[in-house]
Amino acid sequence: MSKKIVLGITGGIAAYKCAELVRRLSERGAEVKVVMTDSAQEFITPLTMQAVSGNPVSTSLLDPQAEAAMGHIEFAKWADLILVAPATANTIAKMVQGVADDLLTTLLLATPAKVAIAPAMNQQMYRHPATQANLATLAQRDIAIWGPASGEQACGDVGQGRMLEPLELVDLCLTTEQPQILQGKTISITAGPTREPLDPVRFISNHSSGKMGFALAHAAHALGAKVNLIHGPVTLTAASTIKTVPVESALDMHKAALNYAPKSDIFIGCAAVADYRAKDISTQKLKKQGDNMIIELQKNPDIIADVASLASNRPFTVGFAAETNDVEAYAKAKLNNKKLDLICANDVSQEGIGFNSDDNAMTLFWPEGKRQLTTQSKENIAFSILEIIASQLK
Ligand code: PMT
Repeated sequence: MSKKIVLGITGGIAAYKCAELVRRLSERGAEVKVVMTDSAQEFITPLTMQAVSGNPVSTSLLDPQAEAAMGHIEFAKWADLILVAPATANTIAKMVQGVADDLLTTLLLATPAKVAIAPAMNQQMYRHPATQANLATLAQRDIAIWGPASGEQACGDVGQGRMLEPLELVDLCLTTEQPQILQGKTISITAGPTREPLDPVRFISNHSSGKMGFALAHAAHALGAKVNLIHGPVTLTAASTIKTVPVESALDMHKAALNYAPKSDIFIGCAAVADYRAKDISTQKLKKQGDNMIIELQKNPDIIADVASLASNRPFTVGFAAETNDVEAYAKAKLNNKKLDLICANDVSQEGIGFNSDDNAMTLFWPEGKRQLTTQSKENIAFSILEIIASQLK
């Protein structure tokens, strides 16, 4: 379900924000191709956009080389969404008239895909009756109009006309047109590693990056759910529409999970929780003592098992299993022993999937069924997992 997005950049000062926009869209699993008008190239270079998108940038309707690679009609059909950002007053007026005098406006006429625009212009230009009438016409044609926001403008004016921030546009791009199969549901997800302190400077942890859990959180939001994301120490940033609960240790995660789980319809334990913590945490830095050192560990509570055992307001409970061998047997044992509704088993011995990678592959087991998901991006896997969960809800 990864989205194919054509980003059409037109000539406004907000074009400089498009590098960040493309980077964030790619981070979230979208495939982005960029089209730039002549005036857009005065604000940001095609080379920059090519570097961040990882795809050649198209700038001309009459470029034989680009046409040979993918003709403009084929290009218009490739997209799931065309976003014009920033959309200047001039491009908006051309869209209303159906002018097709460059590659972007031609694609906009030729595409069967959803079209969205992020207007950005001086506040007086935005308030002008001509612009307002043009926007009303585009809205009537089912073109999504995202923004503009109010605030200080590059020209020094203050008012409505600022392009929405890249993260807001990313959210809109990824949620628009997704089937709202989790509408009205609240999902709490754990993600990332936990850190179990030994002394003020050392801890026990693991290689979980949080990518799988964050992908689940973003996909759940795109499918209509309200999302709480309880995560250990990671370097990722969640969309502003997701409630994040940062924690450090397994005990912190346990407390947060048992607070959110009874208020949730679905609970997913994707975090790599440390099974043990230090029995005593030294208040001072531990000193080197001879060749060997013994640290006594004590068992952490099992978060997902405690959620699955809730006597009241128990959510549909989904666990993960990270295994290096006998994946099916161990995963099924965890499904039963922890009293889960479903388990997602990944073979973390395989290179390129599992911990700290962009891709994953897994088999899902539930009491009456099994489904294999082949190697693909964590963003795609997240959508498939959530579709299966949604189909299992009573
Ligand atoms: O974060 P990434 O880099 O993207 O990597 C993703 C991942 C490999 C971490 C993820 O896909 C995954 O497999 N997560 C579960 C890792 C794990 O700890 O598995 P486990 O088999 O040890 O635990 C089984 C289940 O019990 C898990 O749902 C775990 O969250 C839960 N658990 C474990 C111990 C504990 N004390 N409390 C728990 O809730």
